[in-house]
Amino acid sequence: MGQEKEIVVSGIRSTGILHLGNYFGAIRNYIRMQEEFNCYFFVADWHSLTTHPDPKELRGNVFRVLAENIACGLDPEKVTLYVQSDIPEIAELYLMLNMMAYKGELEKVPTFKDKVRQNPDNVNAGLLTYPVLMTADILVHRGLNVPVGKDQEQHLEMSRNFAQRFNNRYGYLFPEPVPFNYGDDLIKIMSLDGIGKMSKSENQNSTLFLNDGDDAIRNKLKKAKTDSGPQEPNSAKPDYIENLFTLMRLVSTPDTVKHFEDAFNGCSIRYGDMKKQLGEDMVAFIAPIREKAEALRQDSAYLNRIMRYGAEKARASAAQTLQEARKLMGINFY
Ligand code: TRP
Repeated sequence: MGQEKEIVVSGIRSTGILHLGNYFGAIRNYIRMQEEFNCYFFVADWHSLTTHPDPKELRGNVFRVLAENIACGLDPEKVTLYVQSDIPEIAELYLMLNMMAYKGELEKVPTFKDKVRQNPDNVNAGLLTYPVLMTADILVHRGLNVPVGKDQEQHLEMSRNFAQRFNNRYGYLFPEPVPFNYGDDLIKIMSLDGIGKMSKSENQNSTLFLNDGDDAIRNKLKKAKTDSGPQEPNSAKPDYIENLFTLMRLVSTPDTVKHFEDAFNGCSIRYGDMKKQLGEDMVAFIAPIREKAEALRQDSAYLNRIMRYGAEKARASAAQTLQEARKLMGINFY
């Protein structure tokens, strides 16, 4: 047998429609990782219950998120792709870890404090123990590498604490999970209005969604923020112009990028032309993903097959971990 591949675990939020920022910030890394690691990727439907979503909507979102991720190139044969709630072992490990997680430390987590501020009427125990559930997600496969954004690093630090606490008390079982990023791949996509990063909750007209129609894509790019152009050769680019170039580098040919770079440096750039070209190249990039996701979404028999297949693989791994955990804790009797 060859050397075992390192284990990667990551949870995909089951809310919102994927946009370009998600694609280049996260999904593209998943697709790269699936070639190199033993990956467990799942839709985090239990996590989403903290905000009491409408059941019909939640159910639809889970199917949509699966379809979108597969359409982007995640291969259910290469990775273990599943829905969190299909793995009861996660809930069991969550219960065990809750005994080692202290109220005081959980209350101090910045994301928790933010949620309390935003939603003072729904400060439930699930919200408080969100980092514990996240830890169970990871440790249930004895995961080591966790591709997450900056906003999740604090949660991962808690995961390391919980893993360590378990190991110290009961004997070694869990590696301490670390955030994982391809160093060269931290691409940030700004909103097309130049305000902040592209996101589902901010200006929808400045966010390119992976399910946008061709005309919507063209129109959003047409309205992207620009200015009257550089006044001197080889000027620095304002960030909203740099963002258009970033997008162009991601979806256009090197020749096209060079053409507009040269035009910018020579002060002859016409942003209207650039945005039109970018619109066409963006359509060519997004349309196949959109169409594939839509076709997959219609094929619930296929999606169900994928979910069951993923759950089976994930449970095999999870069951082994739980067997060890129970034994170490003294709750194995047969
Ligand atoms: N909390 C993560 C987010 O909001 C999603 C998530 C849940 C996750 N469980 C996880 C990520 C386990 C990595 C590992 O994006």
